[in-house]
Amino acid sequence: ISFCSSTDQSFQQCFSSHLPPSNITYDVIFTQNSSQYSSILQSSIRNLRFSNASKPRYLVTPYNEDHIQATIICSKEHHMHVRVRSGGHDYEGLSYISDVPFIVIDLFHIRSVMVDIKNEYAWVGAGATLGELYYSISAKSNVHGFPAGSCPTVGVGGHISGGGFGTIFRKYGLAADNVIDAKMIDVNGNVLDRKSMGEDLFWAIRGGGGASFGVIFSWKLKLVRVPPTVTVFKTVKSLEQGATKLVQKWQNIAYKFHHDLFVHAVIQVTNPNSNQNPTVQVSFDCLFLGTTERLLSSIQRSFPELGVTQENCTEMSWIQSVLYFAGYSIAESADVLLNRTTQSTQSFKGKSDYVKEAIPKTGLEGLLKMVVEEETSVLILTPYGGRMKQIKSSATPFPYRSEYLYGIQYMISWDVAEETGKRIGWMRRLYKYMEPYVSTAPRAAYFNYRDLDLGRNSYPNTSYVESSEWGLKYFNHNFNRLVRVKTLADPHNFFWNEQSIPVLRLE
Ligand code: FDA
Repeated sequence: ISFCSSTDQSFQQCFSSHLPPSNITYDVIFTQNSSQYSSILQSSIRNLRFSNASKPRYLVTPYNEDHIQATIICSKEHHMHVRVRSGGHDYEGLSYISDVPFIVIDLFHIRSVMVDIKNEYAWVGAGATLGELYYSISAKSNVHGFPAGSCPTVGVGGHISGGGFGTIFRKYGLAADNVIDAKMIDVNGNVLDRKSMGEDLFWAIRGGGGASFGVIFSWKLKLVRVPPTVTVFKTVKSLEQGATKLVQKWQNIAYKFHHDLFVHAVIQVTNPNSNQNPTVQVSFDCLFLGTTERLLSSIQRSFPELGVTQENCTEMSWIQSVLYFAGYSIAESADVLLNRTTQSTQSFKGKSDYVKEAIPKTGLEGLLKMVVEEETSVLILTPYGGRMKQIKSSATPFPYRSEYLYGIQYMISWDVAEETGKRIGWMRRLYKYMEPYVSTAPRAAYFNYRDLDLGRNSYPNTSYVESSEWGLKYFNHNFNRLVRVKTLADPHNFFWNEQSIPVLRLE
């Protein structure tokens, strides 16, 4: 490591002076001159749209709480912002880019997972990935799991602090609903747990985004019980096979299914990059927490038009279903879930919506027409209901519970930087098109599908009114409570970012 400038030396001295002598290590801070700087920075950039954006002055890769405490204290002294990165999946890159001088704390060393099957909980380091968490649970039990997202490289730090849903959330709720304790380092460098942070702050970091409040170090998670056998199917329908009609029906029934049954609908273009005319197909992908026999008796009764038979269904263990939904073969060893380095080679833009009333046929037809325009677009329709309906909308900052039929994720990806304007332009037109069909006042959005089009904070001070633009969309009536918690936890707004919760100021 080379600390060339006097500022660098002074930061390093500050850092060392705040550590007990036994805890001083020399591979924690990397300057832009360090040979490892670039590979560490790039290691978890998931959206290539930001690979050439402004770079942090230092990368800090802590091994323990002391290193995080010292970084926070010294960043304040040196007037530098902090960005915290766990898995690097932020849709807008907010964990590793900033327009003001900044430091990235990358938590990839903080990833131990301690699973206690007897008492049905796990402590997991914030820098662990979902794959590492799922792997560690399955290594100890085939009848326990955790309800979080489908992509194994997503980090638990960002994911759980922003909500977190996956294939078993209709039975167990969000990842954030299943947090029973947490350790975080606050703006003064204090290490807090649930008891010492108090119930308000503990509420806020389970869905309100950890980055506004401090650095989450680890989560204590309640494990859930899964059956030894689960069943999956995938049924793909073209427009000629009546896909539009099936989506119409799906909208009205999927949220009412038994909570063991999850069927999402994925809309995308068939034949991309081929000479044939592109058209749209809808894939209905199911995970059922039980055997094929039980699944068929349920789906053939409630959704006979889908035509699901025994031949479409495959029984497997829960961990194999994790592999399946992550796009791996179920014959593969669960070890693949430990791979953190899957590199994205694409740029992308995502957005989200929530639907309270089924979209009429004409609305769906227009939507499908727009999807055909962009061959790399994907829409994922995720049914709510089940456990999501039972949890109060103020129980955690994530407010979209009982009144919502389903959520929509819009996604588009591309390879060439020159295409960015065109692709994002299409995405914004699609979002505009959807306006009459989705929730209003507010037009709801999912915080974990971060979208800076919804609004961004001014720097360094943000008014409540300005941040309500995006804040109410993500958090609805819970936004005001988040503002109150933030005002107490970080009154000088050290943990500022483009969509951090604002501090209430008496003007
Ligand atoms: P990253 O490290 O980029 O952090 C995201 C945000 O959280 C940043 O603001 C960051 O500063 C903050 N943060 C991270 N760690 C922190 C910590 N320890 N303390 C305080 N703040 C911290 N979502 C979902 O619900 N279900 C799903 O199935 C998927 N699938 C999916 C697939 C793919 C390919 C992508 C790119 C994204 C998803 N997501 C998802 C969305 C995902 O949940 C969301 O992007 C998370 O914020 C990612 O968390 P990371 O830690 O990976 O991101």
